[in-house]
Amino acid sequence: MKIGVFDSGLGGLTVVQAMLGIIRDADIFYVADTFNAPYGEKTSKEILDYSLKITNYLIVQYQIEALVVACNTATSASIKQLRKKYPKLVIIGTEPAVKSALELTKTSKIGVLATPATLSGDKYQCLLDNLVKGRDIKLYEQACAGLVEHIENDTLKSEESLRLLEKWLKPMREAKVDSMVLGCTHYPLARKVIEDIMDNGVKCIDSGHAISKHLLTRLKEQGHKNEGKLTLHLFHTGEINQILIQKLFPYVCSEYIGKIEKN
Ligand code: DGL
Repeated sequence: MKIGVFDSGLGGLTVVQAMLGIIRDADIFYVADTFNAPYGEKTSKEILDYSLKITNYLIVQYQIEALVVACNTATSASIKQLRKKYPKLVIIGTEPAVKSALELTKTSKIGVLATPATLSGDKYQCLLDNLVKGRDIKLYEQACAGLVEHIENDTLKSEESLRLLEKWLKPMREAKVDSMVLGCTHYPLARKVIEDIMDNGVKCIDSGHAISKHLLTRLKEQGHKNEGKLTLHLFHTGEINQILIQKLFPYVCSEYIGKIEKN
């Protein structure tokens, strides 16, 4: 099974980490589109364009049979069009894990951290209409502009980054938010810093495990046996932090492929 995965950068690797525990007998082709990162502060038209180009690249170069859009922002901007353009491809998207947070919360106060593009997108609004509307739940939403760069540059513990996180998280801590949706696949890489600042035993919830389980179900429907080994191939379109890649996946090297031009 050939599976394409993409994100603006390193974030989608948190989804790949979850996939490694669940998916077998597959080649994963991962594109980190660092040339165009961060996606979260781009227009939906731009993000759609990047998503179409990467998907086309993965189909042409590697004949992928399944695609995981390991990015909340790109899912919001492009999943409908991708499914329309490639009806035979198994396509799995990423959305903020609000459903899991609703199951976990005891205080009925849930934090949602995501990119500006995800929080302002129709897809997120639909999710809330379906899951939260009419319920006695208080959501604390925060668009974290700049956090993805701090994660990519490994400057999460810098004064600037800690100041931003404290500003964003303080109202949630004071309100006794007990479940925190990490609505961007980069944010699990900041989980420890977020938990430390919240300092109240908050549960941070990401989507990696749910995506991997859903992917496996869809692959099995296609006759996938899921026995054997899994190989990871990493590609990046711009600069990338190799040290972070090594921390996540020792012994895996990533290959520079440059900006993807063809749609
Ligand atoms: N990791 C991405 C997400 O889940 C995108 C982050 C960005 O490039 O802004 O939304």
